[in-house]
Amino acid sequence: MVKRSQLTGLTGLAEGGGSINIQGEEQKQLDVMTNEVLKRALRFTGKLGVLASEEEDVPVDVPSRKTDVMFDETSKYVAVFDPLDGSSNVDAGIPTGTIFGIFEHEEECVVENSSDMTEDEMKCLVNTLKPGTDLIASGYCLYSSSCFFVMTIGNGVYGFTLDENIGEFVLSHPNIKIPPTSKIYSFNEANMPQWDPPMRSTVEKWRLGTGASGNQFSSRYIGSMVGDVHRTLLYGGVFGYPSDKKNKNGKLRLLYEGAPMSYLMEQAGGLSTTGTERVLEIVPEEVHQRVPIVMGSRDDVQEIIDAYKNA
Ligand code: AHG
Ligand code: MN
Ligand code: MN
Repeated sequence: MVKRSQLTGLTGLAEGGGSINIQGEEQKQLDVMTNEVLKRALRFTGKLGVLASEEEDVPVDVPSRKTDVMFDETSKYVAVFDPLDGSSNVDAGIPTGTIFGIFEHEEECVVENSSDMTEDEMKCLVNTLKPGTDLIASGYCLYSSSCFFVMTIGNGVYGFTLDENIGEFVLSHPNIKIPPTSKIYSFNEANMPQWDPPMRSTVEKWRLGTGASGNQFSSRYIGSMVGDVHRTLLYGGVFGYPSDKKNKNGKLRLLYEGAPMSYLMEQAGGLSTTGTERVLEIVPEEVHQRVPIVMGSRDDVQEIIDAYKNA
């Protein structure tokens, strides 16, 4: 859909700009459609109890299809996802992606109709949301020069590339390990004056080559988390959206951006922190809660953690 969007009229805002998600963001046509496609595909597996998405106001109960012979699996899993990450970039042909995480589903909530939930039903669904340490799988698809699928089930990170000639994802990046030190940082530097002092001073050192590694850093920032994280995993580097004076919790969402990507990052040998806390250990209180993030090469992220500790 992304690849053909310039030709199929799927560029631009949904409902001429009238479609706003719960977080107050204008939805693009592709935000809405990719969400629907993912929801249907996940429902069809018959394995899901609950799903939560950037483009859904509240978690969605996935009705059990146990009566249908095709759907005899129990609804064992919770899926959280960002259907189209980086969608502000999509009409300019800049890489975008899909991020997902999978949890095991323990709580049984009986919800008749997701659009008309009682407070108790809603509480039950929100209770199904767990910290990143409980993820059993996470990953992303990157829609770029190739279509990549990168995932972990808790034993390393595996990258596949779509071979369009055969219609299959081929294992192209077995056991991805992020280099432990790096020379690349990836932040929206326009926010730098508002960052916490330890964050600012460390990045200033990296610019001058006076940080712990002595490396003189370069800057790379796409503004699509999936693209920036993919490069960071392969080349090494530090990607983040740190806390700033205006946005204490940064911008990225814990459940379907921060936690799944942090799980991948740790599985690849990297680190992911808010500056003071391991992102994977944060217990979500709300579906769309934001979290400050600094993730990437182990030694460089450790330098940020140390700077916060010493401050
Ligand atoms: P989304 O398109 O799903 O709303 O997420 C965009 C995110 C992320 O992909 C990126 O890292 C960040 O927003 C960019 O934000 P700025 O434009 O503030 O740099
Ligand atoms: Mn996103
Ligand atoms: Mn999105």
